[in-house]
Amino acid sequence: MSTRDLYSRPVDTGRRWEIPMAGNARFTWEYDEGRARLLDLYQKGKDKQWDAAGRIDWSIEVDPCDAFGVPDQASPLYGTEYWDKLGESGRRELRMHQASWQFSQFLHGEQGAMICAARIVECAPDLDAKFYSATQTMDEARHVETFSRFLHTKLGLVYPINDQLQSLLRDTLSDSRWDMPYLGMQVLIEGLALAAFGVARDITRKPLPKQILTYVMQDEARHVAFGRMALRDHYRQLSAAELREREDFVIEGCLLMRDRIRQYEVWENFGFPVKTMTRILEGAQYFNMYQSFLFTRIVPCVKDIGLWSDRVRDAYDRMGVLDLSRQDLDALMRRDEEAADALDAERFAAEEEARRAEVRAVIEEAET
Ligand SMILES: [Fe+2]
Ligand SMILES: [Fe+2]
Repeated sequence: MSTRDLYSRPVDTGRRWEIPMAGNARFTWEYDEGRARLLDLYQKGKDKQWDAAGRIDWSIEVDPCDAFGVPDQASPLYGTEYWDKLGESGRRELRMHQASWQFSQFLHGEQGAMICAARIVECAPDLDAKFYSATQTMDEARHVETFSRFLHTKLGLVYPINDQLQSLLRDTLSDSRWDMPYLGMQVLIEGLALAAFGVARDITRKPLPKQILTYVMQDEARHVAFGRMALRDHYRQLSAAELREREDFVIEGCLLMRDRIRQYEVWENFGFPVKTMTRILEGAQYFNMYQSFLFTRIVPCVKDIGLWSDRVRDAYDRMGVLDLSRQDLDALMRRDEEAADALDAERFAAEEEARRAEVRAVIEEAET
């Protein structure tokens, strides 16, 4: 079914969103030198490719009105008069819209990631980075395929790209400096997405979103690691003025993303004006915790790549996320990879057990 028929409000899918290309495509004639860490990551990228059509069990049924199985307490409306006014059917519909909004932003973000990764193949100066980004481009294509299939076949409702995400993508892709797609996409957009995937993966009680998020996160852990490595090397050589420009980009990008996750598009559909919703969201304890948690991957990464001036620290302090700089990114990423291996082991053990039970039943029947 055409996505046009599934959008929450009319979207002209015949029109493309076009951002003029900026900067240079770069060739290199040095084929035999590469940084070992980047080449290792490239090897891993090749080894760990998977096919969404085979690895994910698409036969699992999903209730579109309870796709994640998240407890009611997680809703910012819970405990307010509006929650009661919605009634059970309104709450079911709200859950569907929130899940759709979330997965739709993942989908549009993944398309952005695919385009940025392809851009990095073009513009990065060294072959090791081009190699790695080529594997990432394929990873992101598989992610677009996966989220699109979930939205089309399981939820049946798609939200248009959120304004803040679109604005950050535009800024990232229209900049001619070769490190900007890394900074905007690999550090900010992917960093936020990874934390959002992680929360959803850990709280969902539903097997299909769990599989999707766990397997996608296994790939994303590599993507963020790549951004860190490439930028750390580059930023050591930049002048104070050049670093300052990157810091401004990071501060502005983080503020944009903090607003992005407020899902105003959903609330408007349900008749909650922005002003009312802002007041509710600011008083919602769980939501505020969640909002801060979404910076778990970005803040330590920004510190790690060397954009850690007083201005950046002050901005994070005002956003209430400065303490997250102490998070151990390597440990978080190891956990993402282990979670995927553990889920595979659990699923294959269950399949093996079901197969054995079938064999036992056949034998018993033959003996009687
Ligand atoms: Fe992705
Ligand atoms: Fe990614």
